[in-house]
Order: sequence, then structure tokens, then C-alpha cells
Amino acid sequence: MRIVVLLGAPGAGKGTQAHVLARHLALPRIATGDLFRTAVREGTALGAEARTYMYRGELVPDGITVRMLLERLAAPDAARGAILDGFPRTRSQAEALDAALDERSVRVEAALLIDVPVVDLFSRLSGRWLCAAAGHPYHETADPPRVAGVCDVDGSPLVQRDDDRPDVVRARLDGQLGALGEVVDHYRAAGLLWTVDGRLSIAGVSAALLDAIEPAPWWRRTS
Ligand code: AP5
Ligand code: MG
Repeated sequence: MRIVVLLGAPGAGKGTQAHVLARHLALPRIATGDLFRTAVREGTALGAEARTYMYRGELVPDGITVRMLLERLAAPDAARGAILDGFPRTRSQAEALDAALDERSVRVEAALLIDVPVVDLFSRLSGRWLCAAAGHPYHETADPPRVAGVCDVDGSPLVQRDDDRPDVVRARLDGQLGALGEVVDHYRAAGLLWTVDGRLSIAGVSAALLDAIEPAPWWRRTS
């Protein structure tokens, strides 16, 4: 079972790169933010509870989040592993994941931090568009779709997220970066942390991440 964790601030590019890694490694992408947004759309009790935190830019409490993630990780399509996008987000979530994997004699293979200066995150989030069907991400200038307003992959319409409003973005950045630092420390102490420069192009970040988990043999390296 291969569990790869993608870490980064809001807007750092976790979702963008999780789609690439999931395709490359033939593993499902499990994104807690997407699971919460689906629950909100479907009007479930979980969605009703999560939305009050999400639209204030706060983290959803650990108990709810860990239960939801572990249930999803137990699904048959994740039997070979998963790319975790947006989880863990607190030290306690990281410890709960370690404990759950330990029961299966598995550990996190790598924690990949996409490092982007806070000053760049605003423009990334305000220019972001996502496809309504599967959440494929685009950016107005950095990564526009071939046809405006339409997903290249599945043709569905592009929409903006409710929590990408400037006031909620500010709350997400102000409120969540401290916890990210603790998760980074957790994986650094375990010797599992890889840091990649998230200011590179999207393709450049993908190459650096893939190199961290599946280094190309020296005869195939270009630099
Ligand atoms: P979540 O959905 O996880 O949001 P987030 O962490 O705030 O991160 P984003 O999805 O906004 O950014 P991203 O890093 O995926 O960037 P993207 O690839 O889209 O969580 C939402 C909410 O749910 C949280 O606030 C919280 O309330 C709750 N939640 C979720 N998980 C939780 C947990 N574990 N515990 C508690 N609560 C939880 O890229 C952003 C933009 O930049 C795009 O437009 C993209 O095209 C562009 N871009 C990407 N890479 C590049 C590049 N290299 N160069 C230029 N542009 C780029
Ligand atoms: Mg995302």
C-alpha cells in the first residue's frame, strides 16, 4: 500500500499536482476538501457541520475529518494506496493517520511539501477555476483551459469556489499556516519530508515531485 501525502498552504497547488501524481501512480486522489464540498452539495449532516467552518476559512474539527478520511481510505479502490491531498492538516490528524496505517503495518511513504510564498497565494486563489464534474483545476493566466469556461478533460463547466472570496482567503491563510508548520515538523522528524519549490511552472513542480518519489535513473536524467 502506497500512501503519499501532499502538503502545502491554501492555493499552493496540491490539487493540481495530486491529479498528476494520481494518474502517474495509478492511485486514487483523496482530497478531504472535495469530500467536504460533496457532503455540502448533497446536504448531508456532515456537510452541514463542515460548511460552517469551511466558509469561515477555519479547519473542520479533527474528529469529524479523521473519521471521514479513514472511511474513504478503507474503500476498495484505495487498497493499493492513495495520494492524500489536504490531509493531514494538523499534528493530531497526522498522528491518527500514522496509527491507522500502523494497524495495517504500513507507513506514509513520503510527505511532499509544495512550498509557495504567501504573497503568491492570493493571485492563485482569486484566479482559480475548477471543473464542476471532477474538480480539475485551472488558472485564468497560469493555466487557462483551451476553451474559456470549459474543462479540457471532461467538457464540464468551470466554476469558482465559495471560499475563494478575498475575505475567506485571508482567513484561510491567517488561520491555517500555523497548523501546516506543525504537520511539516511531524514529517521532517520522521525523515519523510521532501520540499519542492512551488514557484516553478506546473510541469516543473510535477517533475520535481515525481523525482522525489520515483527518482529517474541517472541515464534518463536531463539535468
Ligand atoms: P481544500 O479544498 O483542501 O483547500 P486548501 O487547502 O485551502 O487548498 P486549495 O484547494 O485552495 O489549494 P490547492 O493547494 O489545492 O491549489 P490548486 O492546485 O487548486 O480545503 C478547503 C477547506 O476544507 C479548508 O479550508 C477546511 O475548512 C476544510 N478542510 C479540508 N481538509 C481538511 C482537513 N484535513 N482538516 C480540516 N479541515 C479541512 O491551485 C491553486 C491555483 O493555482 C489554481 O488556479 C492552479 O491552476 C494554480 N497553480 C497551481 N500550480 C501552479 C504553479 N506551479 N504555477 C502557477 N499557478 C499554479
Ligand atoms: Mg485543492
